[in-house]
Amino acid sequence: MIPEDFYALVEQRQSDRKFDPDRTVPDDVLQRIIEAGRLSPSACNSQPWSFVVVTDPATRNRLAEASSSRVLMMNHFTRQAPVQIIVVEEKANFTATIGGKMKGIHYANIDLGIAAAHITLAAAAEGLGSCIIGWVNDAKIRDILGIPSGRRVVMNIVLGYSTDPHRLKKRKETSEILHREKW
Ligand SMILES: Cc1cc2nc3c(=O)[nH]c(=O)nc-3n(C[C@H](O)[C@H](O)[C@H](O)COP(=O)(O)O)c2cc1C
Repeated sequence: MIPEDFYALVEQRQSDRKFDPDRTVPDDVLQRIIEAGRLSPSACNSQPWSFVVVTDPATRNRLAEASSSRVLMMNHFTRQAPVQIIVVEEKANFTATIGGKMKGIHYANIDLGIAAAHITLAAAAEGLGSCIIGWVNDAKIRDILGIPSGRRVVMNIVLGYSTDPHRLKKRKETSEILHREKW
């Protein structure tokens, strides 16, 4: 891959909130996207994740309900997405748990965020739109999917063929966030 392709992909990825509900995502595409998540780095290679890929319309509706808020008018678009990937936190391995306690850092949050970045960039490379949903009802989703205890639902990543136009990124200026050599 030439570097320009990667930077173009980073620019292309955006949070899409409109999808073609009738266009299904082929299974081989979904498998490659999950593979990108599986290959993510993690603290002490703990890999504290599982992914539940849901395409069944009835289950998707229930997950969308558990990922949205009527009061805050949030995330109702999730209903349209033909695929939802529920990202589940698994118990970290011993070294990541001890290291995290010593440093006061919950490394799994970082690990799952990186996995989500891999997944959404892979989706963009496959010509799909995606949106990471952090507003999730952990208990409801665990119940809907029959997720065993001792695990936590952290994100719902919705995917599909986007009908959202490409937007310019709204970001802080580099001068606001970058320090060189010292603060
Ligand atoms: C951890 C996390 C949680 C997010 N949760 C939501 C969400 O619940 N609903 C939503 O519409 N977008 C959500 N987003 C998307 C952000 O709003 C979006 O990434 C940000 O505004 C930048 O826009 P862009 O992704 O189009 O570049 C989330 C993103 C991240 C990384």
